[in-house]
Amino acid sequence: MSAQSTTAVDTAAVAPMPVHRDLHFPFPPERITDWHGEGAHVTQFFNTLSLYFPEGEKFFIQSVRHYRDRITDPTLQQAVAGFIGQEAMHGREHKVFNALMDDAGLPASRIENFTTNRLKMAHKIFSPEMQLSMTIALEHLTAIMAADLLSNPKVLAGSHPDYARLWRWHALEETEHKAVAFDVWKTVMPNTLGSYLRRCRGLLQTSFFFWLFTAIFHVRMVRAAHPRQGHLRGYLRLARFLFISPAAWLSLAPAWFAYFKPGFHPWQHDNRSALVELDQLTTELAGENAR
Ligand SMILES: [Fe+2]
Ligand SMILES: [Fe+2]
Repeated sequence: MSAQSTTAVDTAAVAPMPVHRDLHFPFPPERITDWHGEGAHVTQFFNTLSLYFPEGEKFFIQSVRHYRDRITDPTLQQAVAGFIGQEAMHGREHKVFNALMDDAGLPASRIENFTTNRLKMAHKIFSPEMQLSMTIALEHLTAIMAADLLSNPKVLAGSHPDYARLWRWHALEETEHKAVAFDVWKTVMPNTLGSYLRRCRGLLQTSFFFWLFTAIFHVRMVRAAHPRQGHLRGYLRLARFLFISPAAWLSLAPAWFAYFKPGFHPWQHDNRSALVELDQLTTELAGENAR
């Protein structure tokens, strides 16, 4: 997986306008526990990530909506509307995806409920500023994972095409709107050291809990999906996937650290070229949905 290089770019000129696409994704339910080309343990890694989306996307929408009235730039207002529309669709489609896990006997709803309660608590405990900071941090995490998924065919190699398509669509739209919440932050927060430190704290805090809970939930999901199976080989395969090839986790490091630059902006990594796939995917699915 290539490091995400950044160059000096006019970020406002580069950013595309996010488009709300109402698409439904069909999946063969019998493959929910083993749809990834790298086998069951990597499948459960992606499935575990999916459990965050329905509630996580709602949290993002709420945090951004809180500041909507303070946005006067019509372009950013339009981008916020596109962002909200896209995240709502992601939440809806991942809810369908997650229900397949419940049907297969996985503890999907229990983990989703746990996430819901933690996010409700975060909503109560943290200030609107901190919630927006957490949102832009998680948008950064999803954007850098999306960039890797889109730039390296090995990340979804050999996966069932219907499942791979959901993940590609989500990665494409995450890329398309990757700077919207960040631009809201830049608009409503003062340009001070305090704002910078709060933004950095957001990424440190959310990254720690995000990966900690992902590891815990993943073990639960794997055990539930394959209770009578030895797991050593599966975990070794997952470790290779995350740390060696395609190094889906380790290769995120340079882009993760880029966030700590005081002048960071998501479109300093210009990967708009990946978005050409969106039109083709939308046409293909719209045709299937109409049948
Ligand atoms: Fe999303
Ligand atoms: Fe997003």
